[in-house]
Amino acid sequence: MRGKVETSNPATCEACHGNAPHPLKDAKLNDHTNKLACQTCHIPQFARGNIGTKMVWDWSTAGKLDKDGKPIIIKDSAGRVSYDSKKGDFRYETHVIPDYIWFNGTVNYTLRDTKLNPDQVVKINSFEGSPTDGKSKVWPIKVFRGKQPYDKATSTLLIPHTYGPDEGAFWSYFNWRSRSPRA
Ligand code: HEC
Ligand code: HEC
Repeated sequence: MRGKVETSNPATCEACHGNAPHPLKDAKLNDHTNKLACQTCHIPQFARGNIGTKMVWDWSTAGKLDKDGKPIIIKDSAGRVSYDSKKGDFRYETHVIPDYIWFNGTVNYTLRDTKLNPDQVVKINSFEGSPTDGKSKVWPIKVFRGKQPYDKATSTLLIPHTYGPDEGAFWSYFNWRSRSPRA
């Protein structure tokens, strides 16, 4: 599915500052606002102030139990949950330099029934744009990487059944293979 990001949205920088926000002594900066999003210069890093942001989520390690059969939570040196039996491994970073892309406002979304190619990295959301389409600017983005289950029979993403009293509920029984009532 494709969607358009609303560019006349009042929450954009331009809605308040206009397209030529820099005063005369810095007027050269205004020459770049047609090709560079404001955020590209004004947000050179994110997760500053040592507040970590999740960068990687690996579902494939979920379900490990301790010797008493109880779920495990492990924290990293900064006190952030880096392993949770319910969810798998997480990795955090601080002072992250964004990735930069050409973006024209159109986003492609992977939905429940979108076929994916399991031989390559699946982009759950991808952004359209190019330096030559006359509509795109360079935007800073956060790329969040993960490993998550998909249905081998239909090549679509799975919605894991996590919660509930039945044996299929992963967070109760920690066994991907037990039968869910919907199976
Ligand atoms: C709701 C309106 C609004 C939006 C949206 C907005 N700003 Fe501002 N911004 C302001 C106001 C008001 C000021 C203060 C102006 C002043 O003090 O003269 C300001 C100040 C600034 C300053 C100067 C800060 C300083 O220390 O002098 C920068 C840089 C800035 N904004 C960048 C941005 C960027 C980049 C965005 C988009 C990510 C943005 N603004 C979105 C209203 C807004
Ligand atoms: C090419 C990089 C670049 C881009 C693109 C850019 N800015 Fe800036 N902006 C700067 C720099 C650098 C300064 C600080 C200039 C200084 O301190 O003299 C600045 C200063 C500002 C200020 C403070 C101006 C003042 O009165 O001192 C505002 C507000 C601002 N930018 C808003 C924006 C908005 C809104 C956009 C998008 C329309 C934008 N900027 C795009 C680099 C950029």
